[in-house]
Amino acid sequence: MTVVYDITPFLAHDDAARQLREELALRTKELERERASLHGLTIDLAETLINAMEAKDVYLKGHSRRVAEQAASVAEEMGLDADQVENVRLAGRLHDIGKIGIREDILNKPSALTAEEYAHVQEHVRIGMEILAPLRHIPEALEFIHDHHERFDGSGYPRGRTGDEISIGGRILAACDAFDAMTSRRAYREAIEPQATIGQLEAEVGHALDPVVLAALRKVVVRRRTLPFIDDLHG
Ligand SMILES: [Fe+2]
Repeated sequence: MTVVYDITPFLAHDDAARQLREELALRTKELERERASLHGLTIDLAETLINAMEAKDVYLKGHSRRVAEQAASVAEEMGLDADQVENVRLAGRLHDIGKIGIREDILNKPSALTAEEYAHVQEHVRIGMEILAPLRHIPEALEFIHDHHERFDGSGYPRGRTGDEISIGGRILAACDAFDAMTSRRAYREAIEPQATIGQLEAEVGHALDPVVLAALRKVVVRRRTLPFIDDLHG
């Protein structure tokens, strides 16, 4: 006797599974598109905020862009994943946004700051975190910004974090921020050459700076390797 199995239910099951897979793939693509467009929108918003801040402080002009570019290169050199590299880049663009809330006469002061003035400038991290608080979809970038004035030995601000307690992006930004400040011309001094700057930063290893981060920065500076800006890719 020949037994004939009815395989229709299995076929239907396979069909349903295939439809589900296709639907999932479609939704995933849609989500990725939305995520990319949200990221692009965040970059545009960052640009707007940075333009407002840089209008106040002539010496900051271009600083955020250079720090972002270099910090992303260092992050890549250290083998961080693509999402982290992008978050480091974004944090680089936004790290000093709180300077919008700092008095202009202090920001542009050509001579050394008094202790009171310096304490006021330090407030830019807290102000920046308040300004950026609504951007809840970029928590990692916000954490990097929060940490950009922490020092490896715990003597930084605002939370006095030590070593690995400081987010990796915060440690990278600290090194690139110092590098850019030293290689830029200021009212009271000339710019320092990149190689000489790295030499001076070596003295800060274990104090302000993470040795692993500085080693990566040194490689990036030597190779002059840079990554394209994410917004340039968008643009
Ligand atoms: Fe800062």
